Amino acid sequence: MQTQLLPVTPEALARAGALIRSGELVAFPTETVYGLGANALDGAAVKRIFEAKGRPGDNPLIAHISALEQLAPLIAVRPSPTARALMDACWPGPMTLIFPKSSLVPDEVTAGLTTVAVRFPAHPAARALIDAAGVPIAAPSANRSGRPSPTTAKHVLEDMDGRIPLILDGGACQVGLESTVIDMTGETPRVLRPGGITPKRIAEICGGVAVDEAVMRPLKEGEVARSPGMKYRHYAPAGALTIVKGEPGAVERAIRELYDESQASGKRPLILSLQGHIPAYGDRRVLSLGADEAEMARSIFARLRDADALGADAIFSEAVPADGLGLAVMNRLGRAAAFHIVEAEQH
Ligand code: TXA
Ligand code: MG
Repeated sequence: MQTQLLPVTPEALARAGALIRSGELVAFPTETVYGLGANALDGAAVKRIFEAKGRPGDNPLIAHISALEQLAPLIAVRPSPTARALMDACWPGPMTLIFPKSSLVPDEVTAGLTTVAVRFPAHPAARALIDAAGVPIAAPSANRSGRPSPTTAKHVLEDMDGRIPLILDGGACQVGLESTVIDMTGETPRVLRPGGITPKRIAEICGGVAVDEAVMRPLKEGEVARSPGMKYRHYAPAGALTIVKGEPGAVERAIRELYDESQASGKRPLILSLQGHIPAYGDRRVLSLGADEAEMARSIFARLRDADALGADAIFSEAVPADGLGLAVMNRLGRAAAFHIVEAEQH
């Protein structure tokens, strides 16, 4: 199959909408990451997403809508006042809500679960595509399973060339990390995956929030994941990634040592550093994560791909505090590193 890459024009959107309606896949930009979309009401079309990504069949997808009225047919309940408050405050935007599903949603979307995840994205191209298709669009991130999520159309092409007919190119994604996934089926909203909408913001809107404890650690042996996506190693670069935590001075010292040891043993190490700390690493090989959490969120997946392209086999990354947007950044980095974390002061 030939994969076309088109800028977002009315003609490209019309073609993309027609492809979705005919059961084909289209990759498209959102404000978080690029999605790989199919008609969410067509089980056979949705199955193709799993094939193109190599995604495990038990990991459910998010259904994307382009107007609030499109939510009701997909879910089996009326949204609670809490859910409505979240929707009013954060939709359209980088937030996904989980509700009991209606019979309209095929099992392929929810991987057999009785709940469905729904998101109303803010990106104009994503909304225009859903409008052009005239159906909700089921879409995971448009990477091959296990690879870092794509934040540019070029990343999508790296992973999907020859596997899908069309990629809509809308430039680089604004947020850079996937949406905040919130389970709305209990009393209190529960964050299953942190993202651009932080727990603090959710608590301000709803008066309370729970953060699933599996967010910042690996699942224990035999533990059942509330969100199936949590049990897979994710976002992983080919090289072994180590996160180094602590006071900046101690972190820089530990990373210099780890890098030098690694190089002495014949490896090709690489450092991922906040912009301001780069001079501390001298002439060692360093890539910048940007100046702060927001820039790190936007750049982290691209840097993990760069690490692969450079053939790095030992990657040492600085950390940021795991609060605010930093919680989402450290959740993704932690998973990419299979939670291999070194405390700089103890090194
Ligand atoms: O920002 C995003 O959310 C992007 C863009 C394309 O919208 N999409 C995305 O999809 O990240 P994906 O498939 O890579 O991640 C969806 C996550 C997975 O961790 C999955 O397990 C979880 O949401 N999920 C989906 N449906 C669920 C459900 N019914 N119950 C619990 N978790 C669910
Ligand atoms: Mg994904």
